[in-house]
Amino acid sequence: MTMTAKPLMARRNGPLAGRARVPGDKSISIRALILGALTVGETRIEGLLEGEDVINTAQTLRALGADLQRTGERQWRVRGVGVGGFAEPRTTLDFGNSGTGCRLMLGAVAGCPVTATFDGDASLRTRPMRRILDPLERMGARTLASTDGRLPLTLAGARDPIPIEFKSSVPSAQLKSAALLAGLAAPGETVVIEAEATRDHTEKMLAHFGAQVRVKLEGPHGRRVTLTGQPELAPAPIVVPADPSSAAFPLIAALIVPGSDVLLDGVMMNPLRTGLITTLGEMGASIEQLDARKEGGEDVADLRVRAGALRAVEVPAERAPSMIDEYPVLAMAAAFAEGTTVMRGLKELRVKESDRLAATAALLRANGITVEIDGDDLIVHGKGRAAGGGTVVTHMDHRVAMAAMVLGLASDKPVQIDDGTFIATSFPGFVELMRTLKADLS
Ligand code: S3P
Repeated sequence: MTMTAKPLMARRNGPLAGRARVPGDKSISIRALILGALTVGETRIEGLLEGEDVINTAQTLRALGADLQRTGERQWRVRGVGVGGFAEPRTTLDFGNSGTGCRLMLGAVAGCPVTATFDGDASLRTRPMRRILDPLERMGARTLASTDGRLPLTLAGARDPIPIEFKSSVPSAQLKSAALLAGLAAPGETVVIEAEATRDHTEKMLAHFGAQVRVKLEGPHGRRVTLTGQPELAPAPIVVPADPSSAAFPLIAALIVPGSDVLLDGVMMNPLRTGLITTLGEMGASIEQLDARKEGGEDVADLRVRAGALRAVEVPAERAPSMIDEYPVLAMAAAFAEGTTVMRGLKELRVKESDRLAATAALLRANGITVEIDGDDLIVHGKGRAAGGGTVVTHMDHRVAMAAMVLGLASDKPVQIDDGTFIATSFPGFVELMRTLKADLS
């Protein structure tokens, strides 16, 4: 992790043009390493995101006895220890900035008879872990030390994990995944019920490795996921598609910088991740999905994005889980739309890498846009342009940093951020990729 802040500035510089492929999906990359480590045999991964969040997770898996090797660019090989087979780590597991790595690993460790200390950077140390610990404790894990359910914390995994039926109190794929990963080591069926469907990469990948997973619809927007415990996970190759949450940045930049025409290759189109595409469609954005196909079991497409006028919309709360990481950058598009965009039900944004509801509002205000926060709703008064000229505090949050840079590419005056180092947690090469599309970032 870099300790010195790296300010960055974005300025307007003619249309964006060209073709690019954003790095591999972060959610899938982290899951591929973890499930590979819980499998007996060798798992080969192609297209892995080599961002800090993923690399930190890899490091923790090594500390738990798995063998992970980088065999080429974005190519990794994982030799696992089998379900329940982690060894007691001799060092603290340091997840850096990664909430996903930390929470999924809490689940994976909870099903093994080892004790481990989990820690992270100043941002991760503020984030709630109690929600994860609750089901894990019901399954037999014990929290030995933690202040207020936050990191650093020490978890003693269960010697004989108990399968549970768990009704998730918040729409969180991390929470669901932690319970399922702990359930791998439990005999019988572990059931997770979510009132709103969240990304399903854990369920899909478990099935890909040979576990028995049943998914049923539950209520109007929910799912009931049942995992049969103690499977023999068998190695299976993984191909990681391009991350739609990373693609969102060049995509929205291309929509709001006049005259732009950009092609983004191989973007994952998993329906539980495409809320942003739906919303931008309602805003009148020109996004063509070309060559729709399957890659590594996921829907992918090349996206051709052309700039044009956007209209304000109301984004319903029930769409939030399918675009939870995209609100900061959607708010930039909303500033460039004509009229008032209302994004409803954003409570979970307050507990991301930063309080993203507050950080996004502050970002826009610093650049001359009128914004309100009303309860859990974000309201942006779009004028089809932004003054810019602001310096944005990014609070160790990669997505706030990149959203600010997108705004600066289209605003009247340049936009600056205090620190661009955290961009490397999810999108290494962001600046270089944006420059190949003719963006002016310095
Ligand atoms: C993720 C789930 C989401 C998301 C995060 C990645 C995952 O978090 O914000 O970036 O890979 O499961 P929550 O599950 O807490 O909503």
